[in-house]
Amino acid sequence: MDKRVLSSGIQYQNLPESYVRPESERPRLSEVSECEDVPTIDLGCRNRRQIVEEIGEACKSYGFFQVINHGVPIEAVKEMAEVAHGFFKLPVEEKLKLYSEDPSKTTRLSTSFNVNKESVHNWRDYLRLHCYPLDKYVPEWPSNPPSFRERVTKYCKVVRELGMRIEEYISESLGLEKEYMRNVLGEQGQHMAVNYYPPCPEPELTYGLPGHTDPNALTILLQDLNVAGLQVLKDGKWLAVSPQPNAFVINIGDQLQALSNGLYKSVWHRAVVNVEKPRLSVASFLCPNDEALISPAQPLTQDGSAAIYRGFTYAEYYKKFWSRNLDEEHCLELFKNK
Ligand code: OGA
Ligand code: NI
Repeated sequence: MDKRVLSSGIQYQNLPESYVRPESERPRLSEVSECEDVPTIDLGCRNRRQIVEEIGEACKSYGFFQVINHGVPIEAVKEMAEVAHGFFKLPVEEKLKLYSEDPSKTTRLSTSFNVNKESVHNWRDYLRLHCYPLDKYVPEWPSNPPSFRERVTKYCKVVRELGMRIEEYISESLGLEKEYMRNVLGEQGQHMAVNYYPPCPEPELTYGLPGHTDPNALTILLQDLNVAGLQVLKDGKWLAVSPQPNAFVINIGDQLQALSNGLYKSVWHRAVVNVEKPRLSVASFLCPNDEALISPAQPLTQDGSAAIYRGFTYAEYYKKFWSRNLDEEHCLELFKNK
């Protein structure tokens, strides 16, 4: 049996050595409590100013929030989740046709995070897809399950619209023009990670994904409704974010932290695993155009506040991000003004 991916049908009785974290880096699951006050933004609210204010508050204090009444049809979400499960249930030989450890590939199945750079592996397989422009990438996507391309296309379109709308609110919440982010980020890329975390024999010793921030602008995360696993860092403590029906979790990424001159936090988050059930999540990432020049928004530094970060292109940032491992110094730190 091929061992390159975890979702190969093998039932593991013990955690293989290469997944075991040193004592000081373990998740300490018994110390994690539930996040009781996840900011939940009702996008169906008629009062735009209220939405903008609530989002601004959440971005400052948490760096993440949930949205409800977001306009993405329930059917599209359900179909996406089903086809994602369907993909990971395929025979391993079929899945391995897409296997690659090269982060520059635009469609690939992989495992852990960055297999060739990391010293300890993570209990995750993932299918990573570029999703914009769709015409360019859909022909590379899996053709199995047969409805994969059609369903994922539909999901990508509606999620992109949601993301763009949220970027408008975020711009306004910073006192910027509503089109500010769209203009600065240029024609935005869109990537998807379909994450599959198999049941793990020793969840206390490892991660699905260790603590990290997302390198992009904005992440729209669909969580498995039946299995929890997402945790966020708030005031130095890890808190569990339980899945809620018909909601998405929105994360601020590194690019928005830079653009907001550090006012909005790119939230530290991680995925933990469990003994009993596989867990699936679908992360959609909106990414600045490669050529986009990211720097603190000028109106935010006009009052004499110093720009915390130097300007950089997203291509430069992304290259740096994937040349490293998740548990090194934070990538954004490398772009700070001295
Ligand atoms: C990610 C991520 C969290 C999850 O894919 O970047 O943080 O719950 N996923 O799977
Ligand atoms: Ni993430």
